[in-house]
Amino acid sequence: MRGILLAGGSGSRLLPLTLINSKQLLPVYDKPLVYYPLSVLMLAGMREILIISSAAHLEAFRSLLGDGGHLGLSLQYAVQDEPRGIGEALVIGRDFAGDEDVCLILGDNIFYGQGLPGQLREAARTLDGCAVFGYPVSDPERYGVAVLGRGGELVDIVEKPADPPSNIAVTGLYMYSNDALSYAEKITPSARGELEITDINRLLVEQGRGRIVQLGRGIAWLDAGTHDSLLEASQYVQVLQKRQGMQIACLEETAYRMGYIDRRQLGRLAERLSPGTMYGRHVRSLLRA
Ligand code: G1P
Repeated sequence: MRGILLAGGSGSRLLPLTLINSKQLLPVYDKPLVYYPLSVLMLAGMREILIISSAAHLEAFRSLLGDGGHLGLSLQYAVQDEPRGIGEALVIGRDFAGDEDVCLILGDNIFYGQGLPGQLREAARTLDGCAVFGYPVSDPERYGVAVLGRGGELVDIVEKPADPPSNIAVTGLYMYSNDALSYAEKITPSARGELEITDINRLLVEQGRGRIVQLGRGIAWLDAGTHDSLLEASQYVQVLQKRQGMQIACLEETAYRMGYIDRRQLGRLAERLSPGTMYGRHVRSLLRA
């Protein structure tokens, strides 16, 4: 399975922060937002990842993450010229995917918690069509919302409904079998000219090829697409990191723990980080463990 991280969009809900900055490069407490979804793909076992961003910001992502070799990854980059919908990521990433399945994650989604890597690996192992990941929220009207059958199976998805059929939001994390990628070309763009990911998923659900994986209560899902949610995400990360003395989405640590890099490579990465930060001290502490 290969990963696609969509870091596009105009970030209009974060203006003026996003006048010259990419939303996904804004800080969430002590690291850029993109670290969080990237670490999720890494934890799910992916090493080949395509990062899609607007032309204006692509070089910034490349300067930040390079070819990923230092993290034991192979990163490629592609441009989404205009924000033409999340679904377009599957069209842009078609060649990159080759004959492999794909896990798509939105660059402003933060997932954290016990058991997440296991749930992702299991979903990848049993994938046929598409898998979406559901999470209970108090404000489902802000998201794609799952319509569930009596047995909890996925019956439909409605995008930002005024009257939500359930409290289960469809998060910005999706898995597609290789053959399901072609569904992105089967749907009609919305009135705004966007390829809606929800339309692609609905088509797969209609054909009995869409399932929902409910993320457990032990997992936190945050999005950082508005001023308030960006601040709240920072506060969440700050509180947990300070309390537990650990790091959320520390890419160097994730690469090391996943076996993508060895201790010697970790040592070189640690040298680049300041011991004056909790992040730097944390990476250094891994070398002593
Ligand atoms: C998108 C999707 C929506 C999903 C959300 C998750 O919405 O269209 O179905 O619930 O991401 O973050 P957007 O944030 O682009 O409005």
